[in-house]
This record gives sequence, structure tokens and C-alpha cells, in this order.
Amino acid sequence: MLELEIDSLAQGGRGVARANGYVVFVSGALPGDRVLARLQKTKRAYAEGAVVELLRPSSARIADRCVHDGEPCPGASWQGLPYKRQLAEKRAHVADALDRLGGLEGFELEPIEPAVEPWRYRNKLEYSFGERGGEIALGFHRRGSWHEVVNVDDCLLASEANNRARNDVRAWASAEDLAAYDRSTRDGALRNLVVREGRRTGQIQTRLVTSAIEIPRPPTDLHTVIEGSGSGTDGPTGALGSERLFEKVRGLELRLSATAFLQTNTEMAERLYAIAGDFAALSGTQRVFDLYCGIGTIGLSLASSAGEVWGLESVPEAVADAEENARRNEISNARFLCADARLGIRPLLDRAGRPDVVIVDPPRAGLSKKVVRRVVECEAPRIVYVSCNPTTLAPNTAQLVEAGYTLRRVKPVDMFPQTPHVECVALLERS
Ligand SMILES: C[S@@+](CC[C@H](N)C(=O)[O-])C[C@H]1O[C@@H](n2cnc3c(N)ncnc32)[C@H](O)[C@@H]1O
Repeated sequence: MLELEIDSLAQGGRGVARANGYVVFVSGALPGDRVLARLQKTKRAYAEGAVVELLRPSSARIADRCVHDGEPCPGASWQGLPYKRQLAEKRAHVADALDRLGGLEGFELEPIEPAVEPWRYRNKLEYSFGERGGEIALGFHRRGSWHEVVNVDDCLLASEANNRARNDVRAWASAEDLAAYDRSTRDGALRNLVVREGRRTGQIQTRLVTSAIEIPRPPTDLHTVIEGSGSGTDGPTGALGSERLFEKVRGLELRLSATAFLQTNTEMAERLYAIAGDFAALSGTQRVFDLYCGIGTIGLSLASSAGEVWGLESVPEAVADAEENARRNEISNARFLCADARLGIRPLLDRAGRPDVVIVDPPRAGLSKKVVRRVVECEAPRIVYVSCNPTTLAPNTAQLVEAGYTLRRVKPVDMFPQTPHVECVALLERS
């Protein structure tokens, strides 16, 4: 245990303290806090720990609003920071990553786009089942604990409808006297629950993941899909209600399968795609590659200003959704291919020809060196890089600059208020 004074925030959102020159990253701490922290990992150059007690809160702190069973919401670790300060920290983290991890300069770092709604913005939340005082609990894991679940009644990151759906599932599980799955004994049925919401369609979809134990059917109005996932390979065993979610984004009607990706903040996804469209600067004739396209959201929203759009995505269900979404919205100049980006870019290039714009929107790990090489082989005059992780955007951008591109603009976007996450759109041009 150490008493520490927190002086800044690190990439990823933890507080940074210095103990005799030794750096300690502390989760749950904000700049200006004096905390008692338990060290969890010690390395030669730094240590990692978590707050056990807030000895003297920072004068900049505001009161936590999203609290479950006396615990600050684990999904809102920056809620103690005023929103303006969150925005400033996020933009500073983007600047720091691009400078320190990419050695990038000479570009315009634009002001951060603030979120439309600082609370109740998530269209998807995942909850875990557990036990509290002999009763079934449904909520989030207590910070730093794999087995203890804190009951959630009203999470301020979720809509009222999402909260109602989760509470209904807990009430049903309790009435049926069902037990949470216990990893050590392998007893019990209920593992976790995903609640997704079509923010523009009002649809709620609850996806209940159970062990392979037989359970009573939940009421149909919960739109529940049951999986026997004891081994992770059993697949769905029954679907009550719709297995597909329907959402509207930038005027497009979208279908989404359970395994497909959708930005978790619908309202800000629209802002993000508008910025990507602005950076792509299309005038009606260009060939656009939408790599890591998911259900086709970015490419389809740009199709009316492009000559043709080609999407590439590795999840087959998402590709089927993208094709269906093109049909549904009467878009005839978009094609979608299912492949790993590493293997799919060359065949795409052979089939479609050189693109004018390549858009990439990879997961947090960013692009591998090989994928960067394949993107460079496309010889597109413009690359628009949509990134959910500045620490992978920076080295990827440095590789593209090395290969002859110039970084022009970076626009940070706040998709996830109350959390340290920051999204960016970057524009690169071939010099
Ligand atoms: C951040 S999401 C972006 C999706 C889409 N652009 C959107 O905004 O909805 C990343 C997508 O990349 C896909 N993906 C992950 N690894 C991939 C790979 N190696 N090759 C192709 N697609 C991949 C995921 O399935 C996911 O749909």
C-alpha cells in the first residue's frame, strides 16, 4: 500500500503518481487526488495499482453521478472530471501520442468534437450475473474483481429503456429462482446479458448468454436470444424476439446481426461519419475502399457522393448485413467482400482497380505492418483513417508517412463521455 499524490492522467485514463521518482499508474484516481493505493504489478520502470481509499479528493473533482451500490460506475471512470476538462485531456492525449509515438508534425490538430449527450448515450451495454446476499445480481463486475458483481438499477450511460430491460431480466431470473453461472464449480445457468438498442427505431434487443443448462423460456417481450455457451461453440439454442437489430444512421436504415459491430454511440457515429466524409472530399465520381467496413455504415453513407464503394470486412454476418443494407437503401454502387484485411486487399485491388480514397476503421489494435503495406500498394491519393486508439493511430500514421504520405489533419471526436476513450479521424495525402 502506498499513499500517493496524483499529478496527471496517462494514455488509457489512469492517474499518474511519482513515488521517489518511480512512476505509478493508479486506476480510479484523478489529478489532484491524494489516495491510498494498492500496488498490483511492479516492474523495473513503473508500477500499477488501484485506489483503495480517496484520502483527499482533488479540488477539481465533481460528485460522481453514476453510482451502483455505493461504487462509482466502472464504465464511467472519468465522471469525476468536469466535461470540459475531459475534452481537454482527450485532445492532449491525441497530441501526445502523435508526437511521442509517431514523431509526427506539420499537421493540423483540430478542436475536439464534443459529444451531443454526455450521459445516456450508449446503445449497447453488457452486464454480468452474480450473487449478492443469496439473491441473483445483474450488473457490472466490481472494479478489480472477477467474481463480485455489483447490482445496477440505473446506469446513466444507458437509456431508461435499456435499464428497464436489464431490470426485467433480473426480476424474471429471480422469480424463476435461477442461479448465476459459477466458473469455479461450473454450476448455475446465467452468464451475461447484452442489451442493445436501436436509438432511432426504439427497438430493444436483449441477448442472454447461459451455460448449457436448460432454463425456462423467458417472456417473449424481452426479445431474448439464448445461447448455450458452456464451451463457447454451442451456438444459439433458441431465439425469442428479433435476433437482428434495426437502427437508422444518417438517413440509412440499417440491419445488424448479433455478431456485427455498430458504434456504441449512434448520435456521435453520425458526426464521425460526417467528418470522415468531409475528409474524403468526394465529388460523385471517385472509387472508395471502405476497409474494416462492418455493416457498411461509412461506405453506404458516402455512396451517393462517390462513383463506387467497395467494402472489406472479416465477419461474414456483417458482410451479409452490409449487402442487405445496400439493397434496403436502394444503393446500387456499393459492393462488399468478406476477407481478412491482410489477405483481402490485393484481390480487392485486382477486382476493383486503384481507389481514389481508402478509408480504414480498424479495431483498437490498429493496422499490422503488413496491412499498412497493402494499403500503400493501393496508391490512393487520399487515406482517411478512423481510429479508436491514438496509440495505434500514431505508429500506423508514421509508417504511412514513411511510405510517402503527408499527414494533413486530425480531428478528435468524443464518442464516449465519462471515459478516457477518444476517437480520431485523420487525413493523409500522397505527396
Ligand atoms: C471499429 S469497427 C468499424 C466498423 C465500421 N466501419 C463502423 O463504423 O461501423 C472494426 C471492424 O473491423 C472488423 N475487423 C476486425 N479485424 C479485421 C480484419 N483482420 N480484417 C477485416 N476486418 C476486420 C470488425 O469485425 C469490425 O467490423
